[in-house]
This record gives sequence, C-alpha cells and structure tokens, in this order.
Amino acid sequence: MSDALEKTNLTFDALGVSSETDVSALFDALLRSAEEEMASAKMGEELESFRVRWLGRNNSVKSRVQENWLKRAAPDAKKWVGASFNACFRKLEEDFAVHKVKPAVTGTSDCMDLSLPGVVRPIGTRHLIRQTYDEIERIFLSLGYTVVEGPEIETPYYNFEALNIPEHHPARDNMDTFYLESAPGYLLRTHTSPMQIRTMEKQKPPVRIVVPGKVYRRDNPDATHSFMFHQLEGLAVDEDITFCDFKGTIEYFVREFFGASTKTRFRPSYFPFTEPSAEFDASCVFCGGKGCRTCKQSGWIELFGAGMVNPAVYGFVGYDAKKLNGFAFGIGVDRLAMLKYGLGDIQVLFQNDARFLRQFP
Ligand code: PHE
Repeated sequence: MSDALEKTNLTFDALGVSSETDVSALFDALLRSAEEEMASAKMGEELESFRVRWLGRNNSVKSRVQENWLKRAAPDAKKWVGASFNACFRKLEEDFAVHKVKPAVTGTSDCMDLSLPGVVRPIGTRHLIRQTYDEIERIFLSLGYTVVEGPEIETPYYNFEALNIPEHHPARDNMDTFYLESAPGYLLRTHTSPMQIRTMEKQKPPVRIVVPGKVYRRDNPDATHSFMFHQLEGLAVDEDITFCDFKGTIEYFVREFFGASTKTRFRPSYFPFTEPSAEFDASCVFCGGKGCRTCKQSGWIELFGAGMVNPAVYGFVGYDAKKLNGFAFGIGVDRLAMLKYGLGDIQVLFQNDARFLRQFP
C-alpha cells in the first residue's frame, strides 16, 4: 500500500504537512495510487469494487480523507485541503467514468466501446407484390369494398362448375390446371373467382368484395408467365347495379392506380361466368398511347377480364337472378406491378433478389 493511501487513516495533525505545496503533493500521490489501481480493474466486478473502495459512500478512501483530513484540518489550512480534495476526487471520478466504458485491452470484457459506430441491421421491406396489393385494396376499400381471402386448394365445383364451367367445357382447357395427386378431387385454384361462389353462398346481397390471392396454372416460366401468380378478384352484387356502375368503378380504379391521364377501353370478350364479358385495356403507361415496344405499337395494354355476373351463376348460390345484378373482375396483380414499375420480366417478382427488392422500400 502506498504511503499516501496509508495516511488516509491518520488525522490531519498527524500528517505532518505544513504548507499548501505539501498538501497538494500528498493529494497527487493519492491520485497516482488510485489511477494505478484503476488501470488493473478491467471487468464488471473489479470496476465496481474499485468504485466502492475509492469513491463509495461508506468508509471509502474518499470518505476517510474527508473525515480525517478535510474536517480536521486547522482552520487556516482548510482552504488548501478543500481545494486539493475537490480537484483530486473530481479528476478521479472523471477518469473512472472514461475508464469503465473502455474495452479491456486483453481478455474478455463486458465493457463496451461507446465510440464505435453502430452496426446497421438491414430492415426488410414489404415485397413489391404486397405493396401493389395494398395500393389496389386501398382504392377498393375507399369505394366501400371489403377484403376477403379464400383457400388456394379448391374443388372443381368452386373453381369451375359453380362458375358455369361444366366438365368438358372448352374454357377448362384455357386454364391448365394442377390437380393434386396426393388429394384426389382437389386442385390448385386457377383463379380467384371461386371466392365469388364461396362468398355468395355465405352472404346475402348486397355484396361488395375484393379477394387478393395466389393462383396456379401449368405455364412454363418465361418473361410474362409463371406457374404461380397473383390476382385480385372483385365482385359487386345488388338490386340496382348497372353496366354503368361497372364501367365507372373500373375506370375510377385504373385512374387512381395509374394516374388521371390514363385512358381506358372495353373490348368484348368471353368468360362463362360473366355475360356480357369484357377485356379491359388502358392506354399504354409507357408511351401514353402513341405506340411503343411494350404495347406492340397499339397504344393499349390489356389489364384484366371482367363482366356482368352471368345469371346462371346466381342459380348455384341461391340468389334470385330476376332481382339481382352485379359485376365481377379479375385483376392480374403481377401484370399491374410490371406496368406500374416498368418491369420487363415477371420472374424478378419471385426470385427474391435483395438487389431488386431494395429498390422498392
Ligand atoms: N377469372 C378470370 C381469369 O382468371 C378473370 C375474370 C374474373 C373474368 C372475373 C371475369 C370476371 O381469367
């Protein structure tokens, strides 16, 4: 134990110091022993016992010095002793505050270096498909639609029959279907339209729903095809729904989604579950309708199939076909995302390449 440290047990008179210089030398020596001891205290418990021993409230070096030296100093010496006392322990406290956050040079340590830059952990973002769904759903929610979801494994009844596509109907060939070997009688839905049936079976009119979901077809993957892709089905049924409501709703959606200057057009088409049926086009978002490679110089881009609900469908769900009217549409979500974000290949949506995904925070 150092001299100075031993002397902390003596009262001021016994120290034998007589000048300001002596006093400050004594405190310097005390500080040096403290700093030496601190240097060897590296880990949590060592640091704590150092603190208790030197700076603690009870019977620490500091409290002893205060009791034995400062309080008992002769009145004329009190000034120097007080000044040295304050300087010494203030310095010790500051040095200790720095020391305890310094990482130990050797060995393990639970100290941290607070001056090191932090590690930035990459945070995931919503996938572009999810973002596109959110945007589409937002628009239909604002029109009073409800979002519902349904099973990806379906029966031929919901996927075909109840949608007015009986067995041997040629429309079944258009949608090359995955039948489940392990579960005979089941298939992977080829579109989200089965949810039209499931919803109307359960719910009395009026109905206003959109159905986001994955669908499956036996397509070979290329720039515009994938065996799994995304649709959003829409269905509105009520007593006084007209073709005008249908057109207005879809035009409103397209302008909200692609921008106010987008033009739209209907072309006659055919789906067994709608009558009349239409294919819906928008003016090409790339060239504004002038004609470019993406729209094959036509100025128009095919967006989705739609139509007024075929009254035959109401027969399958116990709705009164004489009283009710409605419309339905099936939006190809991947296609919309490709058009909106200028993607040339549908596959980028399924490869989960972080370099691609990161571009859509
Ligand atoms: N289910 C059709 C398809 O996948 C799209 C569609 C939905 C057409 C609703 C009309 C009405 O091709």
